[in-house]
Amino acid sequence: ALDRARRIQRIKKLLVERDAVLVAHYYTDADLQALAEETGGYVSDSLDMARFGHEHKAKTLVVAGVRFMGETAKILNPEKRVLMPTLEATCSLDESCPADAFGAFCDAHPDRTVVVYANTSAAVKARADWVVTSSIALRLARHLAARGEKILWAPDRHLGDYVRRESGADILLWQGSCVVHEEFRSQALLDLKKRYPDACVLAHPESPAAVLALADMIGSTSAMIEAARTRPARRFIVATDHGILYKMRQAAPGKEFLEAPTGGHGATCKSCAHCPWMAMNTLATLETVLATGGPEIHIEESIRQRALEPVLRMLEFAA
Ligand code: 13P
Ligand code: SF4
Repeated sequence: ALDRARRIQRIKKLLVERDAVLVAHYYTDADLQALAEETGGYVSDSLDMARFGHEHKAKTLVVAGVRFMGETAKILNPEKRVLMPTLEATCSLDESCPADAFGAFCDAHPDRTVVVYANTSAAVKARADWVVTSSIALRLARHLAARGEKILWAPDRHLGDYVRRESGADILLWQGSCVVHEEFRSQALLDLKKRYPDACVLAHPESPAAVLALADMIGSTSAMIEAARTRPARRFIVATDHGILYKMRQAAPGKEFLEAPTGGHGATCKSCAHCPWMAMNTLATLETVLATGGPEIHIEESIRQRALEPVLRMLEFAA
């Protein structure tokens, strides 16, 4: 505990010395989220992380999350130094969508507007017409469908399928998925709902369709927290990474939060609904990156410039 307290103090000091601001995702450790809040940084969903980093005046952004979040920050802010506790923190969606195979897929469907999730590499974004996050995915699909555009959607098939069902848009899907949300089990969720018939079910749209069918509310991590705060229910079942519970409890004190059941690794799994890559962001890795100035995100300039267009389009659309 002494070690932890010392580390937190050192990180706070280093943030000031390096003119750095900490931006963290809701799925990171509670310690990291608390540090971001206490030091003038920010904790949010992936869209607002991008916005905050873009608007903040600090010369160095320290992004606690997964690699695509650091890359989006760098795409938007080439003049800033973007550090991450580790560059090993990838995302199964990003991994499922290599730029060359994706480029070939786009080439095979030149009549479609290319929409990619923020959970992709800079090289994949460079190939896109639009970048979206979960908080604006449905709105954008409706907007494009109203203009008569056919969509190529990558990489998350569950999010894409949800958006297709809700918007009626013509969507061709890449077949990626999130290893965390894919673990949620609809039958076990139904059983839990029967035990707690008063509970309100909140789900992230990366979850499978059978899970979403049981949800009272579907939305981005920020929207889920807002629903926990504003919905009249006293008890909630939460189908997303359990890192979010730190903020949910803070936003809705006195309410009860149950984790949606996962299948996966059976009795040996203590934390199935937790992203293994988000978990690589620790006080120790954060302290090291601030102390040593690395690892830092670098993106090849021609790729960055091409990726910037659809990312800016996203921010403008979301505004
Ligand atoms: P949000 O944009 O809703 O925060 O989602 C990011 C993510 O990686 C969810 O798994
Ligand atoms: Fe990617 Fe899923 Fe982790 Fe989010 S929770 S970063 S989508 S693997």
